[in-house]
Amino acid sequence: MFSRNFLTVAALLCLKGTHAFMKMPGLSARQIPANAQGVKTILTPTNVTIRYKEPGQAGVCETTPGVNSYSGYIDIAPNAHTFFWFFESRRDPIHDPVTLWLNGGPGSDSLIGLFEELGPCNVTESLETMVNPYSWNEISNMLFISQPVGTGFSYGTEGEGSFANITGVYQNTSYAPATGRWPVVDASILDTTDAAAVAAYHVLQGFFSGVDQLDVHVDSKEFNLWTESYGGHYGSVNPIHTIKRADC
Ligand SMILES: *[C@@H]1O[C@H](CO)[C@@H](O)[C@H](O)[C@H]1NC(C)=O
Ligand SMILES: *[C@@H]1O[C@H](CO)[C@@H](O)[C@H](O)[C@H]1NC(C)=O
Ligand SMILES: *[C@@H]1O[C@H](CO)[C@@H](O)[C@H](O)[C@H]1NC(C)=O
Ligand SMILES: *[C@@H]1O[C@H](CO)[C@@H](O)[C@H](O)[C@H]1NC(C)=O
Repeated sequence: MFSRNFLTVAALLCLKGTHAFMKMPGLSARQIPANAQGVKTILTPTNVTIRYKEPGQAGVCETTPGVNSYSGYIDIAPNAHTFFWFFESRRDPIHDPVTLWLNGGPGSDSLIGLFEELGPCNVTESLETMVNPYSWNEISNMLFISQPVGTGFSYGTEGEGSFANITGVYQNTSYAPATGRWPVVDASILDTTDAAAVAAYHVLQGFFSGVDQLDVHVDSKEFNLWTESYGGHYGSVNPIHTIKRADC
C-alpha cells in the first residue's frame, strides 16, 4: 500500500527508473514499502478483498474536481496481490465505458502507460504530479493493473530477506541477514501468457464484483482492452479466455 510519499517515489521510479536502478548494485530496487495508514478494505461478494486509498483526495495524480480515483490491491488469493489504479471518466462516468490498459513486457508495469503515455497525470521534475489534459479518462473510465503478479507493485507473498547479489532473486534469512520486507514471487506459477490471462480474468472479476462498494457508478456495459508492445499477446489471449468463461 502507499502513502503520498510512496506514490511520489513510485512515480519517480517509473519516470527515472532505469537510471536510478543502474546506479545500484544488483537488482535490489524493488520492495514493499512500509504499511500505509488509512487504508480502506472491502470484501466483495465473490470473496475478493480490495484494499484501497483515494490518491486524488490527497492531491495525487487525478485532481480534477469531482473525478474519483482509487488505488491499492486486489487480493484474489493469499498469494496473489495485484496493484490497481482506477480513474473515473472526467466526462460522464456513469455512461462512459470502462477501459483496461495493459503495458506489455511481459512484466512491463501499466504505471508506465499511466504516468508517461495516456494516464490522468505525469510527474514533474519537482516530483509533483500534473494533470494531463489529453488523458484517456477525458472520455472513459480507466483501469490500470500491474500484471502478471511479480510486475511492479503486484506481489505473491511477503518475506523478510534480501536479494542475491548476482541474480537479484529474493532469498530468505537462511542465506543472508534480512535487509527488509520484500515481495516474494514464485515465477513458476505464472509463466505463460495463457496463465497470465486466467489470472487477469480473476483480477477483473474481483474488481467488478466490488466496484459498487466503491463510490463508483458505472452503468455502461462497454468494456475496452487497450495494450501495446508484448500486450499484442495479452490483448488477444485475454478476451479469448474471458469469452470462454462467459460461455459466449
Ligand atoms: C475466502 O478467502 C479466504 C482467503 O483466501 C479463504 O481463507 C476463505 O476460505 C474464503 N472463503 C470462502 C467462503 O471461499
Ligand atoms: C507533464 O505534462 C506537462 C503538460 O501537461 C508538461 O508541461 C510537463 O513538461 C510534463 N512533465 C514531464 C516531466 O514530462
Ligand atoms: C553483496 O554485495 C554487497 C555490496 O555490494 C557486499 O557487501 C556483500 O558482501 C555481498 N554479499 C555476498 C554474499 O557476496
Ligand atoms: C529458505 O528458503 C529455502 C528454499 O530456498 C528453504 O528450503 C528454507 O526452508 C527457507 N528457510 C526459512 C528460514 O524460511
